Amino acid sequence: MSDSLWIFAYGSLIFRPDFPFVERAPARARGFTRRFHQGSPDHRGTPEYLGRVLTLVPESGGACEGIVYRVDRGHADSVLTALDEREQGGYARANVPVEVASSHLISGATTWIASPGNPYWLGPEAVGDMVSRIRRARGPSGPNVEYVLRLRDALRAHGIVDGHVEEIASALDHANGCR
Ligand code: BEZ
Repeated sequence: MSDSLWIFAYGSLIFRPDFPFVERAPARARGFTRRFHQGSPDHRGTPEYLGRVLTLVPESGGACEGIVYRVDRGHADSVLTALDEREQGGYARANVPVEVASSHLISGATTWIASPGNPYWLGPEAVGDMVSRIRRARGPSGPNVEYVLRLRDALRAHGIVDGHVEEIASALDHANGCR
């Protein structure tokens, strides 16, 4: 197991991993929070009109609840190559320590983080402005609204209620006349 690849998912990799994994477990990345601060030119938006997608933002005292996947070493290279390709819109591969439910620490789980300064960074904005963009944006993977609502539902299905995701999703629900 020690030579396995561990992948930490906090966004679309929760509902669409699209790679072979041996097992998965709830996990927490301390010192980070999840925010819709990254622009998407290739999945939920276009270069002309960026969608808003998640990234991990450092936050002292924060913690991001997600899922860790264990990938067999034999598949590691192909999985990393595929995810580097999928997440090329401003994300960089990173290693973060994550805790799993049993309080076990995985010191170097692989994830992808988009940081300020990348060409598609949107950063924070008033909720109403974020929601307007999300309602308008769509890209090759579908509407930006669908991404947010699917993500909210996938997080809830794993018992994760994220304040930021809930706030944006609920504003979208209301803008759509509730569901
Ligand atoms: C994730 O679901 O963990 C993820 C989100 C954005 C980029 C890469 C991974």
